[in-house]
Amino acid sequence: MARSRVVDLKIFVAIAVIVVCGFLGKSDGLHRIFEYAERRTPEVSVGLTGAPVMLSHFIELGKPEEAKKAALVTGMEKFFAKASGMPEAPTARVSYSGFITVNKTCDANLFFWFIPAKNSPESAPVTVWLQGGPGASSLFGLFVEHGPWVVDADLNISARDYDWSTANSMLYIDNPVGSGFSYSSDDSCYARSEEDVARDLYSFLTQFFVVFNEFAHQDFYVTGESYAGKYVPAITWKILQANQDQNVHQKINLKGMGIGDGLSDPITMTDYGSYLFEVGMIGYEEKRHFEQVEKNVRQNIEQGNYKIAAELFDELLDGDFNKASYFKNVTGSDYYFNILQFREPKEFSYYVDFINRPEVRQAIHVGNKAFHNGSKVESLLFEDMMKSVKPWFEDILNSGIRVLLFNGQLDIIVAYPLTENFVRSLRWRHAADFKDSPRHQWKIGAVTAGYAQEYENFGLVLVRNAGHMVPYDQPVLGYDLINRFTTGKPFSARLQYLGEN
Ligand SMILES: *[C@@H]1O[C@H](CO)[C@@H](O)[C@H](O)[C@H]1NC(C)=O
Ligand SMILES: *[C@@H]1O[C@H](CO)[C@@H](O)[C@H](O)[C@H]1NC(C)=O
Ligand SMILES: *[C@@H]1O[C@H](CO)[C@@H](O)[C@H](O)[C@H]1NC(C)=O
Ligand SMILES: *[C@@H]1O[C@H](CO)[C@@H](O)[C@H](O)[C@H]1NC(C)=O
Repeated sequence: MARSRVVDLKIFVAIAVIVVCGFLGKSDGLHRIFEYAERRTPEVSVGLTGAPVMLSHFIELGKPEEAKKAALVTGMEKFFAKASGMPEAPTARVSYSGFITVNKTCDANLFFWFIPAKNSPESAPVTVWLQGGPGASSLFGLFVEHGPWVVDADLNISARDYDWSTANSMLYIDNPVGSGFSYSSDDSCYARSEEDVARDLYSFLTQFFVVFNEFAHQDFYVTGESYAGKYVPAITWKILQANQDQNVHQKINLKGMGIGDGLSDPITMTDYGSYLFEVGMIGYEEKRHFEQVEKNVRQNIEQGNYKIAAELFDELLDGDFNKASYFKNVTGSDYYFNILQFREPKEFSYYVDFINRPEVRQAIHVGNKAFHNGSKVESLLFEDMMKSVKPWFEDILNSGIRVLLFNGQLDIIVAYPLTENFVRSLRWRHAADFKDSPRHQWKIGAVTAGYAQEYENFGLVLVRNAGHMVPYDQPVLGYDLINRFTTGKPFSARLQYLGEN
């Protein structure tokens, strides 16, 4: 494969291809959709990669302390680039990784990497990160967007300057089963719906807090990006339900959910024509075509024809099935994550080769397990693509926990106006107050980082000069954003978090 391509949000697209091609292998299309072939290290003996660490086994034996000990990641420092730019030896960070079994009958296991906060881990919020796709690994978020380490072209690492695990204990989960290192030997155990996604994540979290019990009383947040606009509300709603259930004794200290450039409600979010026209990427004729197809997409969603809606969308915007979409044909762009860029940055793929180094596999307790490219997850979630999580979203807003939607100004696939359309359509107890509330500048020092509209527990934030992957494009802004969110500081207040780094 000549060029890799990140699978951050390959919503409809990929699936449409697979379904339409019937796996017959129009590989040009697939190459562009899925970045990587399935990777394991078959040429390397298991001795070199170590064995996978399965935490549920210890939990069942009533030995959570042993699970924790087995999950401890040691020796990340030895992967640091030595040659340049590292004035002193990197400080070791404590972290934990391994698998938690979420469905024993299915042998369904979710991989995680937990990185307790550098500052005050005993009181810092615990913040989950879920990548989109569907089918993308959350290790993309860790290594490309906001974890403590950045991978370079030589497959060595260095410390990230604006690291979300500075003041948050970050929990990266490969979700759903079949994404990244997460696996099941049985296809029937892959998620078909957001209910399935939430069920497995909930099983994961209850076990996680048995092992990491000292973190169970910290504030807990769920965050994610892109297709996680579905996952985040799904697990958040599930936790709210369980927390209200008198038969459930183990409560999760849920405080809020945050979503970056998220797809939550396709029917209000399929509206690219006017956006692309107004930023000058298409002309009047093209705008008319977009609007026609989009109307058709919405009608199909209304009629429950989710598959047809997804196929229409593929032909219009992504074009993996036809090798060229209408969007690509008329704009020449091969990248719908930022209106100013036409190609994906090279460094999006470095982390995959890094985590497949045998010594790294050994360090992070994945053994010889495959690192999946997400294609199967996507194809099996095909029916879910065009469905909405809006009713859950509204319940969550009404519950009073904090909700943040943030959006890069330059994104296409989940463009800011699409998120606005969704927000304006929400029915909840403060919908009218929210609409009436003023839009403030969000300032970091003298710099206007973006704009925020906030009312009580709900905030909508535009991040300037960022595309789809906000923390990658604007690390300083992303850092300020997460710390405001998980400490409950409004975006309109002139506070500065950068000094804490
Ligand atoms: C993704 O993985 C599947 C299953 O192993 C494989 O058939 C497919 O070719 C891979 N796709 C790409 C683009 O590497
Ligand atoms: C990167 O890692 C390789 C293999 O461990 C090592 O030989 C090389 O010196 C490292 N590069 C730098 C710049 O430190
Ligand atoms: C395990 O997965 C199967 C197949 O998806 C499902 O029917 C069953 O309810 C799951 N069990 C649990 C405990 O989640
Ligand atoms: C894109 O352009 C090619 C070449 O003109 C054409 O064959 C194809 O039908 C177009 N595809 C779409 C989806 O508009």
